[in-house]
Amino acid sequence: MAQIFPRWTNTLPTIFAGGVSTLALGVIGFFWYYGSPKFTDVGYRPDQPVQYSHKLHAGDMGMDCRYCHSQVEKSSVANVPATQTCMNCHKIVAAKSEKLLAVRESYETGKPIEWVRVHKVPDFAYFNHSAHVNVGVGCSSCHGNIAQMEVVAQAQPLSMGWCLDCHRNPDMALRPKDKVTAMDWTPGQDLPGEGTPEQKQLRFAAAVKLEKHINPPVNCSGCHR
Ligand code: HEC
Ligand code: HEC
Ligand code: HEC
Ligand code: HEC
Ligand code: HEC
Repeated sequence: MAQIFPRWTNTLPTIFAGGVSTLALGVIGFFWYYGSPKFTDVGYRPDQPVQYSHKLHAGDMGMDCRYCHSQVEKSSVANVPATQTCMNCHKIVAAKSEKLLAVRESYETGKPIEWVRVHKVPDFAYFNHSAHVNVGVGCSSCHGNIAQMEVVAQAQPLSMGWCLDCHRNPDMALRPKDKVTAMDWTPGQDLPGEGTPEQKQLRFAAAVKLEKHINPPVNCSGCHR
């Protein structure tokens, strides 16, 4: 495992040896806990080099996520599209737009657009997109409603506790495979049978778990390999 605790924690034994009051330790603990990424990353919304809007393309125009994030079902990493994918349309659509200057430049020079990464788990934790998407966990469970976002913002903490909450009980997050990119899906939606949406969802989840042998890891080595 890579370095987990910041270097200054090496001085902690000295602090303990010095017999600092519990109040001081409480203060340290408070900042450590609430200052850690899981409380600050939600809402993280960096400026991007091009004002690309998911709301326009994926929302209003209804483009499927996989047109651009084409590897999301095949690979551990969901790719961000190459400039060529944009130019499939923008050679013709808004071909002279100022807002697409950097896209045309990238296309002509072959230099990729430097999109700023939004979601990131530390290297010592293992995450895999295809393993989730292929059993029917949808993008919106982890990324929120991207099709409503002008600029992508992080919707979920991506902390260990957040991963484990779902792994311990994924029932409400499993959907039919053809709904994984539906942004407005709610548990139980459009499922057959009697009862409330929640009852239908629980029956559906029980059946897929059996059929696909779904068993999300909760042991340390499942995610820290
Ligand atoms: C026309 C191409 C296109 C479509 C369609 C598209 N995206 Fe994207 N997506 C991008 C580009 C370009 C970026 C990088 C810039 C940014 O973050 O806005 C991106 C970034 C993202 C990110 C953030 C990646 C990071 O850095 O963490 C997520 C999450 C995402 N897209 C999800 C979706 C989902 C879900 C859909 C379907 C509802 C979708 N995208 C549809 C092009 C697209
Ligand atoms: C399926 C076709 C299609 C693809 C693929 C596509 N776009 Fe678009 N894009 C459009 C349409 C249509 C508009 C609206 C044009 C208008 O309002 O005149 C648009 C508008 C835009 C605008 C605003 C332009 C303006 O002048 O207001 C930007 C910026 C943009 N797209 C960036 C991108 C980027 C970056 C990609 C690749 C990640 C991309 N688009 C991929 C069809 C597409
Ligand atoms: C179970 C939660 C989960 C689901 C479901 C999920 N993602 Fe992600 N996504 C993440 C996490 C966590 C990261 C950060 C991964 C990392 O740092 O290695 C991420 C990162 C991304 C990125 C940035 C590039 C990358 O792979 O690191 C894109 C683009 C993306 N997701 C798009 C999508 C799309 C599109 C879907 C639906 C088809 C989707 N995601 C479904 C959790 C999820
Ligand atoms: C919304 C629910 C949900 C969330 C959130 C979620 N997972 Fe999962 N994850 C699942 C399900 C369901 C499976 C079971 C897949 C199977 O058994 O085939 C799984 C499987 C996995 C696996 C095993 C797949 C493999 O390739 O061996 C790993 C590793 C994993 N998740 C890591 C993570 C990490 C790390 C996070 C947090 C950043 C996370 N997951 C968040 C639902 C979730
Ligand atoms: C479902 C996936 C998953 C499992 C299972 C898991 N972890 Fe983690 N763990 C993560 C992720 C993701 C992070 C990074 C969290 C962050 O960035 O805030 C993490 C972070 C950590 C950290 C760094 C401290 C921190 O809070 O940031 C430690 C230590 C750790 N895990 C230990 C463990 C141990 C011990 C177990 C077994 C009891 C375990 N993990 C099981 C996903 C997992």
